[in-house]
Amino acid sequence: MEKFIITGKTALQGKVRISGSKNSAVAVLPAAVLTEDLVFLENLPDITDVRTMIAILEDLGVKIRRRGRNAVELTPGGLSKIAPSYDLVKKMRASYYFMGSLLARFGRAEVPIPGGCDLGPRPIDQHLKGFAALGAKSSIEHGMIKLTADKLIGARIYFDVVSIGATINLMLAAAAAEGRTVLENVAKEPEIVDLANFLNAMGASIRGAGTDVIRIDGAGKFTGARHTVIPDRIEAGTFMLAAAATRGRVVVEDVIPKHLEAITAKLREVGAKVEVEPEMIEVDGEVNLKPSDLKTFPYPGFPTDLQPPGMVLLTAAKGLSVVTENVFDGRYNHVDDLKRMGAQIKVEGRTALIEGGNGLSGAPVSAPDLRSGAALIIAAIMADGISEISSIDHVDRGYEKFEEKLISLGASIKRVNDHEYDRASGEAE
Ligand code: EPZ
Repeated sequence: MEKFIITGKTALQGKVRISGSKNSAVAVLPAAVLTEDLVFLENLPDITDVRTMIAILEDLGVKIRRRGRNAVELTPGGLSKIAPSYDLVKKMRASYYFMGSLLARFGRAEVPIPGGCDLGPRPIDQHLKGFAALGAKSSIEHGMIKLTADKLIGARIYFDVVSIGATINLMLAAAAAEGRTVLENVAKEPEIVDLANFLNAMGASIRGAGTDVIRIDGAGKFTGARHTVIPDRIEAGTFMLAAAATRGRVVVEDVIPKHLEAITAKLREVGAKVEVEPEMIEVDGEVNLKPSDLKTFPYPGFPTDLQPPGMVLLTAAKGLSVVTENVFDGRYNHVDDLKRMGAQIKVEGRTALIEGGNGLSGAPVSAPDLRSGAALIIAAIMADGISEISSIDHVDRGYEKFEEKLISLGASIKRVNDHEYDRASGEAE
């Protein structure tokens, strides 16, 4: 296993180019199996989750040609299996998008019950409710979800819960259903719009993505397409919050500012200066930060994936801040380790009270999941002294070249193997 050794305290300074969106890439890759023709995808982030998704596609029989670090050519004509390999699927929750895309292509899918981050219960009842409405039958046998449909017929589906995953899975299945499907109370994230654009480029007829209601007229055949994945708004937001938390000054480039409005607003509320240009945003955190209340909501609200880094920012603001996590039941995995670094945080159910402004000190901590890991890395950069962050494989799932980007902004961060690093001497052996 690898860990990061980080020496604080550093104010991040400089420019960083934002990679393509993980949460868009893991949706458009499985969507490619709707066609037998050539698909070209670019601006894919070079992260573990994308590599895993590509490995699943190859395992299913899709021919893949890597075109540099961030682009692939796929030829799904040779796809021959309807059951992705368990060892690959269990590595990430987004592999459940093969339910919708294999149903659309073959009318059948067998996908292991998804794993994923430990963020509290993550049911898939809305996915299964939607598939049933389109005429698919589902059963759970030996840890596998088995779906079959003689024919997918369009339907009106009202989601009880706003779910990105369920919205995406039903867009995939409904794209090939006979007739019209109307999805209501859907997720409105930019990644939903990006997927709709890709599916329409392949011949789908999807309207309303990004609003509360998506209308889909089933298409009989899908052609190949070329698609450029949107920038990763969560990576961009992570660097923007890190700039303010470390009292630095950072420009994030290749972003879509519209996707980051909630983060920009919150940063201004705590006193950071934020300059917005058409494709870049500058955050100047060389200010006295003010405490604030941070509540997460589905897009366009403040994203739950930025709640952990947002909490780290609030530990730097003198006074009482309140964080309310409205999307997941258990998304405070970063709190115990932040307290180990000296943060004063009290969690009561979905709410966390932060008494900020007391400074953090370096400590040995462990990344419990992807976004909590990013939060602990930011905390280590703003803390006094040395921190060790273990289990950074979680972070490698969703942040491309994370340490290189942080080093380019002035952070002192080294990746070492657990057995190489001797804590007593502080040296990599
Ligand atoms: C997506 O997960 C993202 N993952 C998550 O990002 C993100 O945190 C989450 O959306 C919320 O924004 C990807 O896009 C790959 P949901 P997803 O279905 O689709 C409940 C990251 O760090 N729900 O929108 O699994 C669910 O329990 C990851 O990049 C049901 O009740 O999330 C949760 O409380 C972590 N029944 C809420 O909806 C269902 O059938 C939102 O979940 C489905 C979901």
